[in-house]
Amino acid sequence: MNVCHWAVAAAVGLSVACGGPSESFEPLPEPDFSLFVSEISPILEARCADGGCHGSPLRPFALYAVGRHRLAPQPTFSRVPLEMEELSANYHTARGFIDAPSPLETTLLHKALSRGGEEAHGGGAVFQDASDPECEVIARWLQGDHEP
Ligand code: HEM
Repeated sequence: MNVCHWAVAAAVGLSVACGGPSESFEPLPEPDFSLFVSEISPILEARCADGGCHGSPLRPFALYAVGRHRLAPQPTFSRVPLEMEELSANYHTARGFIDAPSPLETTLLHKALSRGGEEAHGGGAVFQDASDPECEVIARWLQGDHEP
C-alpha cells in the first residue's frame, strides 16, 4: 500500500476511533442577505470594524468597511462604497458566528453584549444591553423577523 492508502486508512481509523463522522453537522443559517446589505453590514462596519478591532484580516470575525480594511484591488482606507464581494464576505463571516437558535445566544451578539465569564469580549460591551436599537435590529435579522 502506498503512502496515500496509509493516509486514508489512518483517517478512517481515526474517524472510527473518534466515534465516526458527525451526523449532526448543521449547515450555517442563511439570514436575509439584502437586509444584511441594507441594515446589518452598516451597523457592523460602524460599531465593530475599527482597524484595532475587526477591521483586520487577522481576526476570525474580519470585516471590510469604507475607509478601513478593504478587499484588493480596493486600497486599504479607500472611501469608495463597499463592493458586492466585500459585502458578501462580511455576510458569510457573520454567518460563522450565528451558532445558536436564539439570537442573543449567538457568539455574534454574546460578544457584542460582552456577556460575562468566558464569553467576555476583547472589545468590551459594544451594546450596553439587548435593548440597544442596533442590537435589536441585528436580533430581528437573526430571528428572520423583518418587514416585507
Ligand atoms: C457590534 C460590534 C462587534 C461584534 C459583533 C463583535 C464580535 C466579535 C466576535 C464574534 C468575536 C470572536 C471572533 C474573533 O475573535 O474575531 C470577537 C472577538 C474580539 N473582538 Fe469583537 N465585536 C465587535 C466589536 C469589537 C470592537 C469595537 C473591538 C475593539 C475595541 C473588538 C475587539 C475584539 C477582540 C480583541 C476580540 C478577541 C478576544 C475575544 O474573543 O473576546 N470587537 N468579537
